[in-house]
Amino acid sequence: MMARAATPVEAAPARHVPVLLSEMLDALAAERGGVFVDGTFGAGGYTQGILAASRRAHVVAIDRDPDAIAGGAGMVLKAKGRLVLVPARFGDLDRVVAEAGFSDGVDGVVLDIGVSSMQLDEAERGFSFRRDGPLDMRMERDGDSAADLVNRASEAELADVFFHFGEERRARAVARAVIERRRKGRIETTGELAELVAGLVRAEPGGIHPATRVFQSLRIAVNDELGELVRALHAAERVLRPGGRLAVVTFHSLEDRIVKQFLAVRTGRAPGLSRHLPRGEAAAASFAAVTKGPVAASEAEAARNPRARSAKLRAAERTEAPPQEPLTALEALASLPDKGARR
Ligand SMILES: C[S@@+](CC[C@H](N)C(=O)[O-])C[C@H]1O[C@@H](n2cnc3c(N)ncnc32)[C@H](O)[C@@H]1O
Repeated sequence: MMARAATPVEAAPARHVPVLLSEMLDALAAERGGVFVDGTFGAGGYTQGILAASRRAHVVAIDRDPDAIAGGAGMVLKAKGRLVLVPARFGDLDRVVAEAGFSDGVDGVVLDIGVSSMQLDEAERGFSFRRDGPLDMRMERDGDSAADLVNRASEAELADVFFHFGEERRARAVARAVIERRRKGRIETTGELAELVAGLVRAEPGGIHPATRVFQSLRIAVNDELGELVRALHAAERVLRPGGRLAVVTFHSLEDRIVKQFLAVRTGRAPGLSRHLPRGEAAAASFAAVTKGPVAASEAEAARNPRARSAKLRAAERTEAPPQEPLTALEALASLPDKGARR
């Protein structure tokens, strides 16, 4: 157990600016103290905020990126026993919590979905179309890279990835162009792919870069991001104590739809599917809403930090009811498309 004399924790020198930080701390009711899971440690901005909100707060922080874990070593030391930082996936957060010694459950779980500024800024990680580097995108630096996917998948599989995970309207045309381009040799760099996409997808004046959606879709597929999110929501339902809070920040519509749908079912606002209850009988709500609809960044924050413009926060409080059955509809949404897109 980590219960020790509390020490104020200094701010880490982070290049990633946390989004919706005070709104997230309010949603978690972090000032009450307790045990919190930060499933997306990144540069530790959220963890730092939780530790500073109460001297009685302890954090089990998780990140699948070895660079984020290494970068957090100083913060762990400064937290003097109030922070454990674990290299893992947030989809396994209930196992991580149990292994950290908190088998009685936790008081809060927060997820800040997506990539960090550090990941985007390093050309060598291959996440950004703005920086030429290897077409990698693996958060864990392990398994198949985006280049493996782009150079191996069939035209139909690529079109599915671009369409379902990127909501790219020109998905088929881009997939066809990738297959044609492969005849000349492998696509190895972010620059090569960004150039190919920019030749097909029209840039809208003042809009996003034409390659944004294709890059997003590959990142989601390479890291199974939607599957991870669905597993994490179910894991949070299992580990949160009654009165414990779940807060999730998302940056694009697919992720937000998953969180919204999960909470709609769990709070009893949408029908759940149960194989065990008589038809028409709903399972007891396992969450109560904390936020009414999505919370967005203030104008001031959006002006300071452009990343905050698309952020949405949703939060809910765990009830006494047992965890419900896994959401099959959600899993179907999260597992699209599965042919060749996964490791
Ligand atoms: C947006 S950043 C989090 C920033 C953090 N809230 C802060 O204030 O510094 C997202 C982080 O989550 C990590 N991540 C993404 N998917 C993950 C997963 N399935 N399991 C664990 N970590 C994940 C990424 O590696 C990245 O470091």
